[in-house]
Parts: sequence; C-alpha cells; structure tokens
Amino acid sequence: MRQERNLTRRGFLGALGACALAGSAALAGCGRSSGVSDAADVTEGTAKEAAAANAAEGSPAAAGVANTSATDEKPKVLIAYFSGTGHTARVATEMAARTGADLFPLEPIVPYTADDLDYSDPQSRVRIEYADEDLRDVPLVASVPDNFDTYDAVIIGFPIWWENAAWPVLSFCEDNDFHDMSYAVFCTSDMPLPSDETQLGDARDTIRALIGTDVDYVAGARFMPDESLSTVDAWVENLAFTTRAQKMRDREL
Ligand SMILES: Cc1cc2nc3c(=O)[nH]c(=O)nc-3n(C[C@H](O)[C@H](O)[C@H](O)COP(=O)(O)O)c2cc1C
Repeated sequence: MRQERNLTRRGFLGALGACALAGSAALAGCGRSSGVSDAADVTEGTAKEAAAANAAEGSPAAAGVANTSATDEKPKVLIAYFSGTGHTARVATEMAARTGADLFPLEPIVPYTADDLDYSDPQSRVRIEYADEDLRDVPLVASVPDNFDTYDAVIIGFPIWWENAAWPVLSFCEDNDFHDMSYAVFCTSDMPLPSDETQLGDARDTIRALIGTDVDYVAGARFMPDESLSTVDAWVENLAFTTRAQKMRDREL
C-alpha cells in the first residue's frame, strides 16, 4: 500500500520566479535503458563529459565507494535516478564513472516533454499532477532492477520538484525491498543552496517513508544543475556504506 506522500507546497513558484528553467528543458528524456547498465551505456554526452572530467583531473575511472566494514569488502552499489532534463543524469553518470557503480535510469513509460515540465503553465502535465496526488503514480518502464538483492547499497537521484522528490522516483522506492541495504540520496535543483543534506526539502522524509525508516540511510546531497564534478566526486567517494555481509556479521555478534 502506497504511503501518504508529504508533498508540501513551499511556494516554489514564487520563490523561483527569477530562475529561468527554459534552457534546462531542452534535454528532456535521458537514458532510455530499462535495465541496469554501466555508465558507458547511458546518455553518451553525459558519460563522455564525466570521462573527460576524470581525465582532466587525473583521476582513476573507478575510485570506489567507502565502506564501514572492518574488512576490505567493497560494497556493490546501484545508482537509480530519474532525470527530466539531464541535470540529474549528468551527476549520476559522473558518480558511476567515478565509482564503478551500476546505473538504473528510471524512465516513465510516457516521457516528460519540455511542455510537460513547464511548471509556469497551469495546464502543464507537472502542474496537473502536482494538483492531484493520484496522478503522481507515474508508471515506469521498469522499477525493479535485475538482481536487486545482490546490491549492498543504492544511491537514489532525482530533481527537486516543489521542494520534494520528483515523483517518478517514488515507485522505485516503493516497489523494491531495501531490507539489509544502505542508501543515500541526492538531488539537483535550481536554487543556489549549499549542497549538504539539510537542504533536501521534504525529499528525504518522503523517500524514508517509502523505503522504511529502519533501513540504513547514510547521507544526502543537493547539487546545482551545473555542479562541479569534483564536488560530486568528493561526496560519492565519502559515502560510507556497510555491506550486507557486514550487517549480517554485526547481527551475529
Ligand atoms: C516541476 C518542477 C518543479 C521544480 N521545483 C523546484 C523547486 O522547488 N526548487 C528548486 O530549486 N528547483 C526546482 N525545479 C528545478 C529542478 O529541480 C532543476 O532544474 C533540476 O536540476 C532538474 O533536474 P533534471 O534535469 O534531472 O530533470 C523544478 C523543476 C520542475 C520541472
């Protein structure tokens, strides 16, 4: 049963009146793969950008994600994300290129067009869905990744919509069993805010309510659409995920 989603109106339309979104609307519909994929499978432009940035910074392509276990076990990580205009896809692809994590783009069966995403138009799809919570249950091409139970951790990425998680990401949170996993969340948004997790609006609570408050939440971040890739790298590399195996060992103690 879908839990009540806390999509509080925060006056985004007024606050963002000066923020132009027109430019970002041109990139609608990234990452058409319906299954788990490597960074190289996803949007060619963003993958190339990530690889070029890594090369420019003299960084390894797969630096790994930190873990908190006492052993050298490297957590197996999935990055699941929705992106309407490409900003979140760019960040997710960079994270995958940096860490070797798998990517799982969350694709609505009916993709959002630029007109659909025009929140200044009261008749646009997002405005109509925002006004009626029943319409926010957007069917996805796939919401359950293959072999989900083999992952130790998930990073969930989404754009901020009205200071909450864009709703296409919510089916993923609801449809999967996160038992014994760890997770982190990140978003992109237009507001020039600090990137730390106190700036996630209502998104963290919305996602926690769907995933389960007992599941190991590790960290969150809010990035600008054009966030520096070194900031993204620093965040993802410091995520301290505990493996499933370590969680089991901890339980047995
Ligand atoms: C329907 C809608 C609502 C949005 N609401 C907010 C908001 O509340 N705060 C904000 O800073 N940006 C808001 N934005 C801007 C997006 O969060 C931002 O452009 C984001 O980077 C888009 O990511 P994407 O390209 O992956 O879709 C909104 C955009 C849309 C389309």
